[in-house]
Amino acid sequence: MVKAVRIHKVGGPEVLSYEDVSVGAPAPGEVRIRNEAIGLNFLDVYFRTGLYPSPSGLPLIPGHEGAGVVLAVGRDVNSLKEGDRVAYTNPIGAYAEERLIPADRLVKVPDAIPLKQAASMMLKGLTAHYLLRQTFPVKKGDTILFHAAAGGVGLIAGQWARHIGATVIGTAGSDEKVKLALGHGYDHVINYRTENFVERVKELTGGKGVDVVYDSVGKDTFDGSLDCLRPRGMIVCFGQSSGPVPPFDLGILSRKGSLYLTRPTLFVYIAARDALETGANELFDLVSKGVIRIPIGQTYALKDVATAHRDLESRKTTGTTVLIP
Ligand SMILES: NC(=O)c1ccc[n+]([C@@H]2O[C@H](COP(=O)([O-])OP(=O)(O)OC[C@H]3O[C@@H](n4cnc5c(N)ncnc54)[C@H](OP(=O)(O)O)[C@@H]3O)[C@@H](O)[C@H]2O)c1
Repeated sequence: MVKAVRIHKVGGPEVLSYEDVSVGAPAPGEVRIRNEAIGLNFLDVYFRTGLYPSPSGLPLIPGHEGAGVVLAVGRDVNSLKEGDRVAYTNPIGAYAEERLIPADRLVKVPDAIPLKQAASMMLKGLTAHYLLRQTFPVKKGDTILFHAAAGGVGLIAGQWARHIGATVIGTAGSDEKVKLALGHGYDHVINYRTENFVERVKELTGGKGVDVVYDSVGKDTFDGSLDCLRPRGMIVCFGQSSGPVPPFDLGILSRKGSLYLTRPTLFVYIAARDALETGANELFDLVSKGVIRIPIGQTYALKDVATAHRDLESRKTTGTTVLIP
């Protein structure tokens, strides 16, 4: 038996239950790993509350991100061996000391990157990669707006967009967070709790608007985000930390300047093995070279995951958060 966190019913952080589970031997194509660290993501909150349904019913072991060491490999697994250092961002089931996982969802972690750091950056770093390099491929000279700039995805995306050569505008919910984001690639950061971010973006762009808005805040920012765009700009709605965007009249995209809107998900972008490898290689390369720093803002014991969820949902965290089994 190993320790894991399961939910038997959806609800608040109190439904996260630390208990014994059995793991078993890996089936063909699978690997058994020991998690050294597990990444915390807002996505975990959506599964806990039931906003996103469990793919396999309840009880469910949440968690989409981790890194550790291979303990055993199943038949037909030739790419990995016992002792390899590996990281992953899906499938769900990361909140555990040990787990089974398909071998083709694992990537080897370069020696230069500590496993704790790898665990904190797979989901968030690969998200920054596909948002900036594929959904709206940002070019040198573009101006972008990235909400929740001091969050887990936000601090990585700011540095990556700066590396590409964009002018990077961010928003954050406190003056301390503004300062933190300014140190991670952002040219300008707006405290959107005290300032009108639409007016500030208009000022900063000389009235032109930005080429793209990456909006993971959802309900509270959606309308304002549309008003920050230049004609034919794109809004990338990739999360809903403040709640889902309510249904809206499609004509608004026409009236506000023939805008583009997309609602992407990481797991579609990395469904193919080569896409996962391409993203992970680029991410590991930039992190190894020090172009992108991944600050671990908070660390909790896995058994204290309910506190970690409370802190994430109440906007107390910055950067990435890891859980240690
Ligand atoms: N679609 C995808 O592929 C994909 C992949 C990864 C992540 N995401 C999404 O990206 C977002 C960021 O993920 P993350 O794990 O890195 O989280 P995070 O950004 O570290 O945390 C969420 C942040 O959202 C901001 N926020 C604004 N209004 C909020 C509210 N009412 N309640 C809570 N937070 C609020 C807070 O920052 P301030 O205080 O600065 O406002 C908070 O720190 C999430 O929405 C997540 O679902 C989507």
